[in-house]
Amino acid sequence: MTHSDFKTMILEGIPATLPDPKPYDQNLNHAPKRKDILSPEEKSLALKNALRYFPVKFHKTLAGEFAKELNDTGRIYMYRFRPDYEIKARHIDDFPHNSRHAAAIMVMISNNLDCAVAQHPHELITYGGNGAVFQNWAQYRLVMKYLAVMTDEQTLVIYSGHPLGLFPSHKDSPRLVVTNGIVVPNYSSQDHWEKFNALGVSQYGQMTAGSYMYIGPQGIVHGTTITIMNACRKLKVNSKNNGLPLFVSSGLGGMSGAQPKAAEIAGVISVIAEVNPKAVKTRFSQGWVDEVICDMDSLIERVNVARKENRVVSIAYQGNIVDVWEKFAGDNIRIDIGSDQTSLHNPWAGGYYPAGISFEEANRLISSEPERFKELVRESLRRQVRAINIICERGMYFFDYGNAFLLEASRAGADILDFNGNFKYPSYVEDIMGPLCFDYGFGPFRWVCCSNDKADLETTDRIAAETLGKILVNSPQEIKQQLSDNIHWIKEAAGNRLVVGSQARILYADAEGRIAIAKAFNSAIKSRIISAPVVIGRDHHDVSGTDSPYRETSNIRDGSKFTADMAVQNVIGDSFRGATWVSLHNGGGVGWGEVINGGFGMVLDGSEEAENRLSMMLHWDVNNGIARRSWARNSGAMFTIEREMQRTPALQVTMPYIADDILIAEALQQ
Ligand SMILES: NC(=O)c1ccc[n+]([C@@H]2O[C@H](COP(=O)([O-])OP(=O)(O)OC[C@H]3O[C@@H](n4cnc5c(N)ncnc54)[C@H](O)[C@@H]3O)[C@@H](O)[C@H]2O)c1
Repeated sequence: MTHSDFKTMILEGIPATLPDPKPYDQNLNHAPKRKDILSPEEKSLALKNALRYFPVKFHKTLAGEFAKELNDTGRIYMYRFRPDYEIKARHIDDFPHNSRHAAAIMVMISNNLDCAVAQHPHELITYGGNGAVFQNWAQYRLVMKYLAVMTDEQTLVIYSGHPLGLFPSHKDSPRLVVTNGIVVPNYSSQDHWEKFNALGVSQYGQMTAGSYMYIGPQGIVHGTTITIMNACRKLKVNSKNNGLPLFVSSGLGGMSGAQPKAAEIAGVISVIAEVNPKAVKTRFSQGWVDEVICDMDSLIERVNVARKENRVVSIAYQGNIVDVWEKFAGDNIRIDIGSDQTSLHNPWAGGYYPAGISFEEANRLISSEPERFKELVRESLRRQVRAINIICERGMYFFDYGNAFLLEASRAGADILDFNGNFKYPSYVEDIMGPLCFDYGFGPFRWVCCSNDKADLETTDRIAAETLGKILVNSPQEIKQQLSDNIHWIKEAAGNRLVVGSQARILYADAEGRIAIAKAFNSAIKSRIISAPVVIGRDHHDVSGTDSPYRETSNIRDGSKFTADMAVQNVIGDSFRGATWVSLHNGGGVGWGEVINGGFGMVLDGSEEAENRLSMMLHWDVNNGIARRSWARNSGAMFTIEREMQRTPALQVTMPYIADDILIAEALQQ
């Protein structure tokens, strides 16, 4: 296929003649069959909704086909309309365009649907089991066409994957505004998602799937490495006395698959259980996990040998995590750090596989006996917590990994609450990310080279390391550790060979670091040291991007953690300060209804406008959250915003006065 053929196919949008039906590819990982939740009337509505993308002449053929898809999968993906070309990140100029910024968005969308990157590519799911880029292939085709034809005087509007259309705007406005899963608050239960998604009117965009900012598992390897390194610091494990720490967790999926690789980079022995043999195979073939073990006795033996030899190894246990916890608890085997990364944000539709039944049987029960499946999940969670509690009493540091484990375990009636009704264990944000990173403005800054050229990525790595190195010299003691960890990471990043899909990189930086790196990239693009534009963005899992009471904002303790003003303000503020695109989502990470999160993408093209935009927008993008965290009386954030106000006279933030606890107690006793 030539470049010109590719461009023609993108510009085709919905084809004028029906493409042939596509065979179902058994070799790919497919989304599980979703719950049959629609009434007969709602099924006819779903069908009518799906057919509105196509001329009436196609309806006769498509109606039966879509009805079958709805019946077989619980959704209408419109498989027939999946394009024939390979979807993957390419050079920005390979995409047809009138706006280079729109072409950069096409690079990002294509990467999110690349079969080597996405979890269920044919169902347009990038990660997390239900993190969708689009709901169906008609939406994909229309969006790519709109992006290809639009100019810098238009903005594309997307409602949960559906392109509402191109609207006149101006050069300095975002080229794209995306919302995913935004509903009236009372209609935000898991079943609401199932129903609205089956009807084709809403989707779960996760954090970076529906905002096109997913860069493969590398992003999460970085975050997980930082988390494990800091968990080890909390343990104060002295490897000379105790040997290497052992980390036990579950999941080798989209994000969870980063755990063994991150443990290796952090210098820790790890055992990660995974029930899905395809997920195990993928991570093993990528070299992200060293060894695969399928029986429990061999697992115990291997862990003992690694401990004895004091040698880092990452082990995938192909089986259920509950069996691992119970065996290690029963045999009194020391585990130093523990977590869980099953997709418990999505517990009833394949996110969590209960112990005691096979993977295949579980997949069958999800749709055929949903109530029984739910009870099995609850029982399994109770067992899991029982075993974890025993090991924690022996000294393990256990943390919730932002997957709603504590929440779902408590809902299942597991022994997970303390005397005050709080969770027994912290979330990784409460203990690690919040106080050590987010309160100081450090969060997941990422970039993608739109040339798709490895050489450009190497240049950006070098520029980022030099920039952070300069900042480190005069940085206050409070942030030296974060800066050093990230300088170390970026220097090693190429050697760790973590790129899957687009030529992308991630590190954690604060506002000063992000702005300095972005400026340096922009000048390098201007002087052609970098050959094409660079997209900068971030995971929503950041200082300001996400209001999530059990994760990103779990260390906000002034009672405001259930509000979502910060995330909404963040997106609005980014959009008029120069973002190329913005997105606002319901539900990323911990589940529909449990979080509001937002993000941005910005194209650096070497221009002066780009330099102005990046300075203004990144400053807001980080300091909005710092100001909110500071108002919540978080000491790190108060330190950071005071420092920022000294640097930026136009920034004037309302600061809290700290009331005396004894005074308050006395006042209430009167
Ligand atoms: N890593 C992070 O920093 C991070 C951050 C935020 C949220 N999360 C959350 O972590 C969860 C996992 O994300 P993901 O993208 O890897 O999802 P995923 O669905 O791709 O992977 C989860 C894996 O867990 C496996 N699994 C389910 N139940 C199991 C069981 N009982 N025993 C063993 N394996 C089991 C599944 O087969 C699947 O492969 C999500 O809820 C996500 O929101 C992770």
